[in-house]
Amino acid sequence: MFEALPPAPTDKILALIELYRADPRPGKLDLGVGVYKDRDGRTPVMRAVREAEKRLLASQETKTYLGLVGDAAFNMAMIRLVFGENADTARIRAAQTPGGSGALRLCAELIKRSRPEATVWVSDPTWANHVPILRDTGLKVREYPYFDADTGTVRFEAMLEALAKAESGDAVLLHGCCHNPTGANLNEAQWTALAGLLADKRLLPFIDIAYQGFGEGLDADAAGLRIVAAKVPEMVAAASCSKNFAVYRDRVGAAMVMGTNGTQADAALGHMLAAARTLYSMPPDHGAAAVRIVLGDPALRADWEAELDETRNRMLSLRVKFAEALRQRSNSDRFDFIASHRGMFSRLGLTEAQVERLRNDHGVYMVGDSRINVAGLPEDRLDDLAKAIVAVLD
Ligand SMILES: Cc1ncc(COP(=O)(O)O)c(C=O)c1O
Repeated sequence: MFEALPPAPTDKILALIELYRADPRPGKLDLGVGVYKDRDGRTPVMRAVREAEKRLLASQETKTYLGLVGDAAFNMAMIRLVFGENADTARIRAAQTPGGSGALRLCAELIKRSRPEATVWVSDPTWANHVPILRDTGLKVREYPYFDADTGTVRFEAMLEALAKAESGDAVLLHGCCHNPTGANLNEAQWTALAGLLADKRLLPFIDIAYQGFGEGLDADAAGLRIVAAKVPEMVAAASCSKNFAVYRDRVGAAMVMGTNGTQADAALGHMLAAARTLYSMPPDHGAAAVRIVLGDPALRADWEAELDETRNRMLSLRVKFAEALRQRSNSDRFDFIASHRGMFSRLGLTEAQVERLRNDHGVYMVGDSRINVAGLPEDRLDDLAKAIVAVLD
């Protein structure tokens, strides 16, 4: 039965990890992987999460099923974290999901069930898993222009122009903050203009917020989403706790839906849960329970926010230092955009051949589109790295 199967498509980033592992060179550098790393190259368990896990272990009396929607307190805490303390909770619902990926899938399923002929518009480029998730759900996908590789900035006018041609009832997938893979984000005025267009054209905002707290801060990173929420009647959002709580393997996320009223939001949630029932049934409990404890305990929450601040500030300072090293080595401002980008990623704007030369000649690993993980930059070897990058430019 399986002999007729062609090889399954491989994930480029996972393939890169294998290449990196097999490389015997001691000074090799992994800028490809999509997890936060501290200055020692570790991805530690956050202090508040560890404490919450201890409490959980001591207090948990059962591991019986959680139910399709997951933990109500976790869901409400996530609505407030993402939509803000003044969120219109009467018409927003959330379902706990296995990671942000699970949340994206439930939002996509809801769109498919509500309007099967809808097209979902995604940024060019976007996270490598967006299009497969949408296509597997059976939705049509189209791209809107997003990134200008020459300047490292958002092609906002072109983006608006393309979306103005979308059909009413289509959905627009947006990165709430810290755009992956480019690191280039919309500013407040752009979010406001975009929200106006979405509302006028009755396009459904579908916001993926996977890095809240990694860009400018917890509230600042959700500002765009909140601008949109204040303007439109309906929207969906997929949140991930993988990065900002560093609970990657525990699979923690939330699929959220805002309806024109509570009854419609309930109906939409019901359809997301019906989809969940056939996909994975119920979400895993452990990581979301830890997140719920952290968000609900003022002291733990303060400690989590402090550690998240440290994480973000480390990335910001690496951005500034790396841009400066590149400025010195290249004798140009070509890479200055790295300092103004936000989040864990930036795209350097190198060709595939240059990326390959960096890997072969210098042991520097990055994704083929020249996306780097800023958190993987070596603080003590930034100048060497800048030198290697400039060496492959010509
Ligand atoms: C843009 C974006 N969305 C969603 C996710 C989902 O992450 P997870 O399913 O691990 O929570 C990621 C993870 O890398 C991402 O980069």
